[in-house]
Amino acid sequence: MKENLMEKHELQGVIEELYNKYLCDRGGKVATYIPELGKADPEDFGICLVSSDGRIYETGNCEQSFTLQSVSKPFTFGMAIEELGHEHVFQRVGVEPSGEPFNSIELQAGTNRPYNPMVNAGAITVTALLHALYREAAFDTIQKRLSAAAGRSLSIDKDVYASETATGHRNRAIAYLLLNFGMVHAEAEDALDLYFKQCSMLVNCRDLAIMAATLSNMGRNPLTGVSVFDHRSVKDILSIMFTCGMYDYSGQWAYEVGVPAKSGVSGGVMAVVNRQLGVATYSPLLDIHGNSRRGIGVCTELAARLGLHAFDLMNSGSSFLDMVL
Ligand code: DON
Repeated sequence: MKENLMEKHELQGVIEELYNKYLCDRGGKVATYIPELGKADPEDFGICLVSSDGRIYETGNCEQSFTLQSVSKPFTFGMAIEELGHEHVFQRVGVEPSGEPFNSIELQAGTNRPYNPMVNAGAITVTALLHALYREAAFDTIQKRLSAAAGRSLSIDKDVYASETATGHRNRAIAYLLLNFGMVHAEAEDALDLYFKQCSMLVNCRDLAIMAATLSNMGRNPLTGVSVFDHRSVKDILSIMFTCGMYDYSGQWAYEVGVPAKSGVSGGVMAVVNRQLGVATYSPLLDIHGNSRRGIGVCTELAARLGLHAFDLMNSGSSFLDMVL
Protein backbone atom coordinates (compact mmCIF):
# COMPACT_ATOMS: atom_id res chain seq x y z
CA MET A 1 0.00 0.00 0.00
CA LYS A 2 1.52 3.26 -1.09
CA GLU A 3 3.20 5.14 1.74
CA ASN A 4 1.11 3.16 4.24
CA LEU A 5 -1.13 6.17 4.55
CA MET A 6 -4.47 4.85 3.45
CA GLU A 7 -7.01 4.36 6.17
CA LYS A 8 -9.83 1.82 5.99
CA HIS A 9 -12.53 4.31 5.14
CA GLU A 10 -10.36 5.79 2.39
CA LEU A 11 -10.58 2.65 0.26
CA GLN A 12 -14.34 3.19 -0.06
CA GLY A 13 -13.58 6.82 -0.91
CA VAL A 14 -11.14 5.78 -3.65
CA ILE A 15 -13.62 3.50 -5.42
CA GLU A 16 -16.35 6.15 -5.16
CA GLU A 17 -14.00 8.71 -6.67
CA LEU A 18 -13.11 6.35 -9.53
CA TYR A 19 -16.80 5.55 -10.05
CA ASN A 20 -17.67 9.23 -10.42
CA LYS A 21 -14.73 9.85 -12.72
CA TYR A 22 -15.39 6.94 -15.07
CA LEU A 23 -19.18 7.33 -15.05
CA CYS A 24 -18.57 10.39 -17.24
CA ASP A 25 -16.70 8.25 -19.79
CA ARG A 26 -19.36 7.12 -22.25
CA GLY A 27 -16.92 5.92 -24.91
CA GLY A 28 -16.96 2.37 -26.21
CA LYS A 29 -19.82 0.21 -27.44
CA VAL A 30 -22.10 -2.50 -26.05
CA ALA A 31 -21.46 -5.89 -27.75
CA THR A 32 -24.10 -6.79 -30.30
CA TYR A 33 -22.61 -9.80 -32.12
CA ILE A 34 -24.61 -11.87 -29.63
CA PRO A 35 -27.87 -9.92 -30.28
CA GLU A 36 -29.26 -10.33 -26.75
CA LEU A 37 -26.18 -8.62 -25.25
CA GLY A 38 -27.12 -5.49 -27.20
CA LYS A 39 -30.00 -4.95 -24.75
CA ALA A 40 -27.59 -4.06 -21.92
CA ASP A 41 -27.97 -0.58 -20.42
CA PRO A 42 -24.79 1.37 -21.31
CA GLU A 43 -25.21 3.44 -18.13
CA ASP A 44 -24.87 0.43 -15.81
CA PHE A 45 -21.65 0.63 -13.83
CA GLY A 46 -20.44 -1.04 -10.67
CA ILE A 47 -17.16 -1.51 -8.81
CA CYS A 48 -16.67 -4.08 -6.05
CA LEU A 49 -13.61 -5.14 -4.05
CA VAL A 50 -13.61 -8.18 -1.77
CA SER A 51 -10.58 -8.77 0.43
CA SER A 52 -9.09 -12.23 0.82
CA ASP A 53 -10.53 -12.23 4.32
CA GLY A 54 -14.01 -11.38 3.13
CA ARG A 55 -14.53 -7.64 3.54
CA ILE A 56 -16.66 -6.04 0.83
CA TYR A 57 -16.31 -2.52 -0.59
CA GLU A 58 -18.65 -1.54 -3.39
CA THR A 59 -20.14 1.36 -5.25
CA GLY A 60 -22.50 1.88 -8.17
CA ASN A 61 -24.80 -0.86 -9.35
CA CYS A 62 -23.32 -4.10 -8.02
CA GLU A 63 -26.61 -6.01 -8.17
CA GLN A 64 -27.28 -5.72 -11.90
CA SER A 65 -27.10 -9.20 -13.46
CA PHE A 66 -24.99 -9.84 -16.54
CA THR A 67 -23.65 -12.98 -18.16
CA LEU A 68 -20.18 -14.27 -17.33
CA GLN A 69 -19.11 -14.82 -20.94
CA SER A 70 -15.34 -15.25 -21.11
CA VAL A 71 -14.89 -14.72 -17.37
CA SER A 72 -16.11 -18.33 -17.09
CA LYS A 73 -12.98 -19.54 -18.89
CA PRO A 74 -10.43 -19.48 -16.03
CA PHE A 75 -12.82 -21.50 -13.87
CA THR A 76 -13.49 -24.25 -16.42
CA PHE A 77 -9.75 -24.36 -17.11
CA GLY A 78 -9.11 -24.86 -13.37
CA MET A 79 -11.68 -27.66 -13.27
CA ALA A 80 -10.06 -29.42 -16.24
CA ILE A 81 -6.58 -29.17 -14.73
CA GLU A 82 -7.81 -30.57 -11.43
CA GLU A 83 -9.84 -33.41 -12.89
CA LEU A 84 -7.63 -34.43 -15.82
CA GLY A 85 -4.11 -33.26 -14.97
CA HIS A 86 -1.66 -31.04 -16.82
CA GLU A 87 -0.47 -33.54 -19.39
CA HIS A 88 -3.94 -34.40 -20.65
CA VAL A 89 -5.02 -30.75 -20.87
CA PHE A 90 -1.80 -29.43 -22.40
CA GLN A 91 -1.85 -32.04 -25.16
CA ARG A 92 -4.85 -30.10 -26.46
CA VAL A 93 -4.32 -26.48 -25.46
CA GLY A 94 -1.18 -24.36 -25.05
CA VAL A 95 -0.18 -21.59 -22.63
CA GLU A 96 1.09 -18.95 -25.06
CA PRO A 97 -0.52 -15.53 -25.49
CA SER A 98 -1.93 -15.43 -29.00
CA GLY A 99 -1.67 -11.68 -29.58
CA GLU A 100 -4.88 -12.18 -31.54
CA PRO A 101 -8.51 -11.20 -30.85
CA PHE A 102 -10.48 -13.56 -28.61
CA ASN A 103 -12.41 -15.13 -31.49
CA SER A 104 -9.54 -15.65 -33.91
CA ILE A 105 -9.58 -18.83 -35.94
CA GLU A 106 -5.98 -19.73 -35.45
CA LEU A 107 -4.17 -22.73 -33.99
CA GLN A 108 -0.51 -23.19 -33.04
CA ALA A 109 1.70 -24.27 -35.92
CA GLY A 110 2.99 -27.81 -35.51
CA THR A 111 0.69 -28.98 -32.71
CA ASN A 112 -2.64 -27.59 -33.99
CA ARG A 113 -3.51 -26.73 -30.41
CA PRO A 114 -5.32 -23.49 -29.56
CA TYR A 115 -2.84 -20.96 -28.15
CA ASN A 116 -4.28 -20.83 -24.65
CA PRO A 117 -7.48 -21.56 -22.66
CA MET A 118 -8.57 -17.89 -22.53
CA VAL A 119 -9.26 -17.44 -26.26
CA ASN A 120 -12.46 -18.99 -27.60
CA ALA A 121 -10.70 -21.89 -29.36
CA GLY A 122 -8.87 -22.89 -26.16
CA ALA A 123 -11.93 -22.45 -23.97
CA ILE A 124 -14.08 -24.59 -26.28
CA THR A 125 -11.36 -27.27 -26.15
CA VAL A 126 -11.30 -27.18 -22.33
CA THR A 127 -15.10 -27.35 -22.16
CA ALA A 128 -15.06 -30.31 -24.58
CA LEU A 129 -12.71 -32.08 -22.15
CA LEU A 130 -15.19 -31.46 -19.32
CA HIS A 131 -18.05 -32.64 -21.53
CA ALA A 132 -16.19 -35.84 -22.38
CA LEU A 133 -15.56 -36.40 -18.66
CA TYR A 134 -18.93 -35.55 -17.14
CA ARG A 135 -21.30 -36.15 -20.06
CA GLU A 136 -24.91 -35.29 -19.16
CA ALA A 137 -23.80 -34.08 -15.70
CA ALA A 138 -21.34 -31.59 -17.24
CA PHE A 139 -23.33 -28.38 -16.98
CA ASP A 140 -24.53 -29.18 -13.49
CA THR A 141 -20.93 -29.80 -12.42
CA ILE A 142 -19.70 -26.51 -13.92
CA GLN A 143 -22.65 -24.60 -12.46
CA LYS A 144 -21.99 -26.00 -8.98
CA ARG A 145 -18.29 -25.12 -9.05
CA LEU A 146 -18.87 -21.57 -10.27
CA SER A 147 -21.67 -21.14 -7.73
CA ALA A 148 -19.31 -22.27 -4.95
CA ALA A 149 -16.78 -19.66 -6.11
CA ALA A 150 -19.50 -16.97 -5.96
CA GLY A 151 -20.99 -18.29 -2.72
CA ARG A 152 -24.52 -18.49 -4.07
CA SER A 153 -26.43 -20.52 -6.62
CA LEU A 154 -25.88 -19.06 -10.10
CA SER A 155 -28.42 -19.56 -12.87
CA ILE A 156 -28.39 -19.23 -16.62
CA ASP A 157 -29.78 -16.41 -18.79
CA LYS A 158 -31.88 -18.46 -21.18
CA ASP A 159 -32.29 -15.58 -23.65
CA VAL A 160 -28.54 -14.96 -23.97
CA TYR A 161 -27.96 -18.71 -24.27
CA ALA A 162 -30.56 -18.97 -27.06
CA SER A 163 -29.16 -15.87 -28.76
CA GLU A 164 -25.59 -17.19 -28.83
CA THR A 165 -26.75 -20.65 -29.88
CA ALA A 166 -28.59 -19.11 -32.83
CA THR A 167 -25.79 -16.80 -33.96
CA GLY A 168 -22.52 -18.40 -32.78
CA HIS A 169 -21.43 -19.47 -36.25
CA ARG A 170 -17.86 -18.39 -35.73
CA ASN A 171 -17.54 -20.49 -32.56
CA ARG A 172 -19.18 -23.36 -34.45
CA ALA A 173 -16.52 -23.01 -37.16
CA ILE A 174 -13.81 -23.06 -34.46
CA ALA A 175 -15.33 -26.18 -32.87
CA TYR A 176 -15.35 -28.02 -36.19
CA LEU A 177 -11.78 -26.95 -36.95
CA LEU A 178 -10.80 -28.36 -33.56
CA LEU A 179 -12.69 -31.56 -34.37
CA ASN A 180 -10.81 -31.78 -37.67
CA PHE A 181 -7.50 -31.74 -35.77
CA GLY A 182 -8.67 -34.15 -33.07
CA MET A 183 -8.50 -31.50 -30.33
CA VAL A 184 -12.12 -32.07 -29.32
CA HIS A 185 -14.08 -35.31 -29.21
CA ALA A 186 -16.72 -36.25 -31.79
CA GLU A 187 -19.58 -34.54 -29.95
CA ALA A 188 -18.31 -31.09 -30.90
CA GLU A 189 -21.87 -29.70 -31.02
CA ASP A 190 -22.57 -30.86 -27.47
CA ALA A 191 -19.30 -29.34 -26.26
CA LEU A 192 -20.20 -26.08 -27.97
CA ASP A 193 -23.62 -26.13 -26.35
CA LEU A 194 -21.97 -26.54 -22.95
CA TYR A 195 -19.63 -23.64 -23.75
CA PHE A 196 -22.59 -21.40 -24.67
CA LYS A 197 -24.26 -22.36 -21.38
CA GLN A 198 -21.22 -21.58 -19.22
CA CYS A 199 -20.91 -18.18 -20.98
CA SER A 200 -24.60 -17.48 -20.25
CA MET A 201 -24.34 -17.91 -16.49
CA LEU A 202 -25.62 -14.86 -14.63
CA VAL A 203 -23.60 -12.97 -12.04
CA ASN A 204 -23.54 -9.46 -10.66
CA CYS A 205 -20.51 -7.31 -9.90
CA ARG A 206 -20.43 -8.45 -6.26
CA ASP A 207 -20.52 -12.13 -7.28
CA LEU A 208 -17.63 -11.51 -9.64
CA ALA A 209 -15.56 -9.82 -6.92
CA ILE A 210 -16.23 -12.77 -4.58
CA MET A 211 -15.17 -15.19 -7.34
CA ALA A 212 -11.99 -13.13 -7.77
CA ALA A 213 -11.44 -13.12 -4.00
CA THR A 214 -11.83 -16.92 -3.99
CA LEU A 215 -8.89 -17.07 -6.40
CA SER A 216 -6.95 -14.45 -4.41
CA ASN A 217 -7.52 -16.55 -1.28
CA MET A 218 -5.82 -19.62 -2.79
CA GLY A 219 -9.10 -21.19 -3.89
CA ARG A 220 -11.13 -20.80 -0.69
CA ASN A 221 -14.22 -18.59 -0.82
CA PRO A 222 -13.49 -16.00 1.90
CA LEU A 223 -17.18 -15.52 2.73
CA THR A 224 -18.38 -19.12 2.91
CA GLY A 225 -15.06 -20.74 3.85
CA VAL A 226 -15.69 -23.41 1.18
CA SER A 227 -12.59 -24.66 -0.61
CA VAL A 228 -13.48 -24.37 -4.31
CA PHE A 229 -10.13 -24.90 -6.05
CA ASP A 230 -6.93 -26.58 -5.00
CA HIS A 231 -4.12 -24.03 -4.47
CA ARG A 232 -2.05 -25.76 -7.19
CA SER A 233 -4.72 -25.21 -9.83
CA VAL A 234 -5.14 -21.61 -8.61
CA LYS A 235 -1.47 -21.13 -9.50
CA ASP A 236 -2.20 -22.41 -13.03
CA ILE A 237 -5.36 -20.33 -13.37
CA LEU A 238 -3.68 -17.09 -12.27
CA SER A 239 -0.62 -17.66 -14.46
CA ILE A 240 -2.76 -18.01 -17.58
CA MET A 241 -4.93 -15.05 -16.58
CA PHE A 242 -1.79 -12.97 -16.11
CA THR A 243 -0.40 -13.66 -19.57
CA CYS A 244 -3.57 -14.21 -21.64
CA GLY A 245 -6.64 -12.94 -19.75
CA MET A 246 -7.16 -9.65 -21.58
CA TYR A 247 -6.70 -10.94 -25.13
CA ASP A 248 -4.62 -8.76 -27.42
CA TYR A 249 -4.40 -6.21 -24.60
CA SER A 250 -2.82 -8.74 -22.20
CA GLY A 251 0.73 -7.39 -22.53
CA GLN A 252 -0.27 -3.81 -21.90
CA TRP A 253 -2.51 -4.85 -19.01
CA ALA A 254 0.34 -6.84 -17.39
CA TYR A 255 2.63 -3.85 -17.87
CA GLU A 256 0.26 -1.24 -16.47
CA VAL A 257 -2.02 -3.06 -14.03
CA GLY A 258 0.20 -6.03 -13.25
CA VAL A 259 -2.31 -8.52 -11.83
CA PRO A 260 -4.05 -11.59 -13.31
CA ALA A 261 -7.40 -10.66 -14.84
CA LYS A 262 -10.18 -11.80 -17.13
CA SER A 263 -12.76 -9.86 -19.07
CA GLY A 264 -15.98 -10.83 -20.83
CA VAL A 265 -17.91 -9.26 -23.71
CA SER A 266 -20.94 -8.54 -21.55
CA GLY A 267 -18.78 -6.00 -19.67
CA GLY A 268 -17.37 -7.76 -16.61
CA VAL A 269 -13.73 -7.50 -15.58
CA MET A 270 -12.35 -9.69 -12.80
CA ALA A 271 -8.86 -8.97 -11.40
CA VAL A 272 -7.03 -10.91 -8.72
CA VAL A 273 -4.46 -9.38 -6.37
CA ASN A 274 -2.76 -12.49 -5.07
CA ARG A 275 -3.53 -13.21 -1.37
CA GLN A 276 -5.03 -9.73 -1.04
CA LEU A 277 -8.05 -8.73 -3.06
CA GLY A 278 -10.64 -9.69 -5.61
CA VAL A 279 -11.63 -6.78 -7.84
CA ALA A 280 -14.61 -6.67 -10.18
CA THR A 281 -16.10 -4.00 -12.39
CA TYR A 282 -19.16 -4.06 -14.58
CA SER A 283 -19.83 -1.70 -17.46
CA PRO A 284 -20.98 -3.04 -20.86
CA LEU A 285 -19.26 -0.32 -22.92
CA LEU A 286 -16.41 -2.16 -24.63
CA ASP A 287 -13.20 -0.97 -26.28
CA ILE A 288 -11.83 -2.31 -29.58
CA HIS A 289 -10.34 -5.39 -27.84
CA GLY A 290 -13.71 -6.40 -26.35
CA ASN A 291 -12.67 -5.33 -22.84
CA SER A 292 -14.85 -3.05 -20.71
CA ARG A 293 -13.54 0.47 -21.23
CA ARG A 294 -14.50 1.75 -17.79
CA GLY A 295 -13.24 -1.51 -16.25
CA ILE A 296 -9.80 -1.02 -17.78
CA GLY A 297 -9.71 2.60 -16.61
CA VAL A 298 -10.78 1.81 -13.04
CA CYS A 299 -8.41 -1.15 -12.63
CA THR A 300 -5.46 0.74 -14.11
CA GLU A 301 -5.97 3.67 -11.78
CA LEU A 302 -6.76 1.50 -8.76
CA ALA A 303 -3.55 -0.48 -9.28
CA ALA A 304 -1.50 2.72 -9.54
CA ARG A 305 -3.09 4.35 -6.49
CA LEU A 306 -3.01 1.31 -4.22
CA GLY A 307 0.29 -0.10 -5.50
CA LEU A 308 -1.34 -3.39 -6.56
CA HIS A 309 0.99 -4.23 -9.47
CA ALA A 310 2.75 -7.51 -8.67
CA PHE A 311 6.15 -5.86 -9.15
CA ASP A 312 5.34 -2.55 -7.50
CA LEU A 313 7.72 -1.92 -4.64
CA MET A 314 4.71 -0.80 -2.65
CA ASN A 315 2.85 -4.09 -3.09
CA SER A 316 3.25 -5.37 0.42
CA GLY A 317 1.71 -8.79 -0.21
CA SER A 318 -0.81 -10.12 2.27
CA SER A 319 0.12 -7.47 4.85
CA PHE A 320 -1.89 -5.12 2.60
CA LEU A 321 -4.92 -6.41 4.44
CA ASP A 322 -3.65 -5.16 7.79
CA MET A 323 -2.63 -1.81 6.45
CA VAL A 324 -5.54 -0.88 4.26
CA LEU A 325 -8.69 -2.72 5.18
O1 DON B 1 -17.65 -17.03 -27.35
C1 DON B 1 -18.07 -15.89 -27.32
O2 DON B 1 -17.96 -15.17 -28.31
C2 DON B 1 -18.68 -15.36 -26.05
N1 DON B 1 -19.57 -16.30 -25.47
C3 DON B 1 -17.63 -15.03 -25.04
C4 DON B 1 -16.56 -14.13 -25.58
C5 DON B 1 -15.99 -13.18 -24.60
O3 DON B 1 -16.52 -12.88 -23.56
C6 DON B 1 -14.75 -12.55 -25.03
N2 DON B 1 -14.43 -11.47 -24.13
N3 DON B 1 -13.94 -10.47 -24.21
